[in-house]
Amino acid sequence: MPRVLLVDGDARFRSQARATLGSIEGIDVDETATLDDADASVVAAAPDVVVLGPSLDYGSCLAFAERIPGRGCLARVVVVQNAVTLDAVREAMRRGVHDVVPLDGSWAEVAAAVREAASAGRRAEEQAAAVPPRAAVFTVFSTKGGVGKSVIACNLGVSLASIGLSTILVDLDLMFGDAAIMLDLKPERTVYDAVQSFDRLDGELLRAYLTKHSSGLEVLLAPVRPEDAEVVTASRVGTLLDMLARICEVIVIDTAASFDDVVLSAIDRSDEVLAVATLDVASIKNTRVSLQKLAQLGYGGGLASLVLNRADSKVWLDVGEVEKSLPAPIVARIPSDRLVPRSVNRGAPVVLDAPRSAVARALTDLAKHVADRVRTRS
Ligand SMILES: Nc1ncnc2c1ncn2[C@@H]1O[C@H](COP(=O)(O)OP(=O)(O)OP(=O)(O)O)[C@@H](O)[C@H]1O
Ligand SMILES: [Mg+2]
Repeated sequence: MPRVLLVDGDARFRSQARATLGSIEGIDVDETATLDDADASVVAAAPDVVVLGPSLDYGSCLAFAERIPGRGCLARVVVVQNAVTLDAVREAMRRGVHDVVPLDGSWAEVAAAVREAASAGRRAEEQAAAVPPRAAVFTVFSTKGGVGKSVIACNLGVSLASIGLSTILVDLDLMFGDAAIMLDLKPERTVYDAVQSFDRLDGELLRAYLTKHSSGLEVLLAPVRPEDAEVVTASRVGTLLDMLARICEVIVIDTAASFDDVVLSAIDRSDEVLAVATLDVASIKNTRVSLQKLAQLGYGGGLASLVLNRADSKVWLDVGEVEKSLPAPIVARIPSDRLVPRSVNRGAPVVLDAPRSAVARALTDLAKHVADRVRTRS
């Protein structure tokens, strides 16, 4: 039975609210006059919904909502106010309030908000109980452009989905993401849209922003317009990744050719960073510097591994030399093949388009390496 805690210094508000909410079937109402008492009650009584009344200071209500997650409590906070501006509502959502309801004579809206908050809490609990452990996360990384990150991420995602792992590809090349083109997907909903309803999201709602590929792979696409990337901040990306990690087994992340906060929030959550290098001096130097930087930032030695792309080129460096000069194991050597640009142009990943080719086999082997890591982890 959902438990609701009513908080307000005004006894009349409390009794009216109790009368309204008490009549909702299956809701158990408790009350207290101050936020200090409420602080103690959320820990002791673990209510599902806390309703903060209009006589409480608005700023203190938001501070209260902000404290809730840190106290191991799952309560959703509904703030009732006499009048609220849109800015005030936005600020409240940002700080973790579930809903802000104006009290303009009718209690119906308050009752509806409480009912909705209670069922959102129940959904989240059911989800937490039902979902498998956190997904394994693989970030495809290189600070150099054009080395094949997107080709590798897309083919990896498709291969993993094809062998039956529930896989989400996240296109974190926020300004110039290519996953939609490479997989021939219509970007009807992207990470930009997900961020627009950020404060209401949970793992299940976030699913609605994923685009499904015929292989079974689900993709969180990059914004359509480069300028929309701005609102997709690193901390939001982190939260989205944490939510996605609860609804699938593997997350593959494609990144932009940079070492910014967004990329770091992906690396932070990664089980393995697949550093892509091609066999030219500039790419190898770049990879070495990036791996050193990861180490300086405190990422453990075993985090990164190397994917050598276009690794068969005779005119470029010797693989053995490269192996010696880079402090990470090589987990894949992907040959250069004209089938790749052809498959990119057709929007059909080469592992599906030409599965018997050497390049597809190398990409499938990389997927096996990833799948092995996923399985040995759980
Ligand atoms: N193994 C390969 N053989 C032939 N062509 C390849 C191979 N891998 C990648 N390419 C080609 O290289 C180009 C760049 O690949 P991709 O877009 O995946 O690189 P990227 O690292 O994601 O680049 P950016 O940093 O600009 O996003 C593409 O046109 C692709 O077709
Ligand atoms: Mg790319």
